[in-house]
Amino acid sequence: MQLLAFTVGLGLLFVAGAMMPPLTPARAEQILGKWHIRSWAGNMPIPSWKWSDPLPPFAFERNSLGDLEFRMNLTKPIGCIPFKLPLYEGEELGTFLTWWRHLIYIHFLPGKNFAIAYFRGKMNYRYYQIMMLMGRTLEADLDAVRIFKEFVETKIPKTGEIITPPHVEACELVQDS
Ligand SMILES: *[C@@H]1O[C@H](CO)[C@@H](O)[C@H](O)[C@H]1NC(C)=O
Repeated sequence: MQLLAFTVGLGLLFVAGAMMPPLTPARAEQILGKWHIRSWAGNMPIPSWKWSDPLPPFAFERNSLGDLEFRMNLTKPIGCIPFKLPLYEGEELGTFLTWWRHLIYIHFLPGKNFAIAYFRGKMNYRYYQIMMLMGRTLEADLDAVRIFKEFVETKIPKTGEIITPPHVEACELVQDS
């Protein structure tokens, strides 16, 4: 359950006008392909030691029905688990919805090699926010880091700690023949 909430949160943003310049709303077609979680921040009620776990890359892809999906290969004791989360573009540009109608904002930084995903949810009767800086590459980019830091400060000024997780390669799935 924690993993699900965590991944839903990461895969995704909230509140009209929640984003600030110089961010521009992303369309589904523009976010397709592979991404890395460069940094993230949030005030979710989960133990903090989990928060610095290494994270594999993820991808937005179209499934056989043409629907957008968030995908991440997760290394678990029982093997490599393909996590898939269908997403639907919301009415407002730059918003995406899950089956549970969680609303996620995805907006590009200038240059479109980085984007910020933002989600606000409720757990145990408390609101929480989660946001991530996603990048097409693992190259350092000080501007992207600065913009993300400013964004985090507007959202969670009190606990604005930013986590830069170690990266791991995606595990290999055993393909069905
Ligand atoms: C998951 O693993 C499969 C098979 O190894 C690979 O083709 C796919 O790109 C991986 N997905 C992600 C999001 O890394």
